Amino acid sequence: MERVLLISKEPEKWEFFEKNLLSSYEFISLKPEEKLDFSNISIVATDKIENIEKIRSAEKRKPPIVFFCKSKDFSTEIKARKLGVADFFSIPIDKELLLLRFKNISEISRVIKSNADSIRWMQMIKNEMINLQENMAQTIAQTVESRDENTGGHILRTATFMGLLGDEFVATGKITKEQLDLIVRAAPLHDIGKIGVRDSILLKPGPLTSEERKEMMSHSEKGAVLIKKMQKKFENHTYLQYAYDIALNHHERFDGEGYPHGKKGEEIPFWARLMSVVDVYDALVSDRVYRKGMEKDKACEIIFSGVGTQFDPDVLQAFDDCKDLLI
Ligand SMILES: [Fe+2]
Repeated sequence: MERVLLISKEPEKWEFFEKNLLSSYEFISLKPEEKLDFSNISIVATDKIENIEKIRSAEKRKPPIVFFCKSKDFSTEIKARKLGVADFFSIPIDKELLLLRFKNISEISRVIKSNADSIRWMQMIKNEMINLQENMAQTIAQTVESRDENTGGHILRTATFMGLLGDEFVATGKITKEQLDLIVRAAPLHDIGKIGVRDSILLKPGPLTSEERKEMMSHSEKGAVLIKKMQKKFENHTYLQYAYDIALNHHERFDGEGYPHGKKGEEIPFWARLMSVVDVYDALVSDRVYRKGMEKDKACEIIFSGVGTQFDPDVLQAFDDCKDLLI
């Protein structure tokens, strides 16, 4: 049986409705000063205009409100209807008509609720899809990385370093916390273009020929093309715009001597300038099949030697401030 919550200072006044509707509805009375609880309530009934707004602001899920008054009062009815009541009753009212109008309200309320439930389900499914797509992109990035990185830690470490370095710029207001969250999620895709580089080149232990180097360097643009495709297929992935900028520009240099486009200074997206430092630092300290990773101090020394040439001086200043946190 559906439940009707009666909010009135004079609950006895509702005897008429309880008497006429009791076979179809269960009634619960509440004084206006008592705590509102709409759990399992289908309809709320009240006799005071000021209660309508109170009910409306009390909960997101708004049960339909009906308004009762003892005599026909047009100005009160207009006020109540302007506040969005589902129906207005002046008592006394014919029993059959009262029941019909209550049933109408219940029906409309059920349709609205089932629509709201459908929308909630659709939103949940959409969120799941977004998570799944992001996980797929990260899995592809890890698979690509595992071809030339036997420890598999580069992606995780660089994303962590990006977070630490980025925090320095959140503190200065250069980027927002929300942007940094997107940048950190985008960072693992920086080398995704290596999927298009042959094993014979990617895994070659010795120096590369100029042709081979060219193919290796193509991973920036290949990654950008791949991420552009993902952007077209995956909706609502703001982080992919950052991933695109990072994949395309993480080998650009501050002095314009990098690749693929020789962009200079602030022409290089800021997040790619962050990635550039983080990527090189991690490559220096990591073990490779053909060499052991460098000591942290030595790696930092090499990084700082690139101030203003390979790397953005502001980013290096921040790197200096947080380098003790790096592993
Ligand atoms: Fe790269």
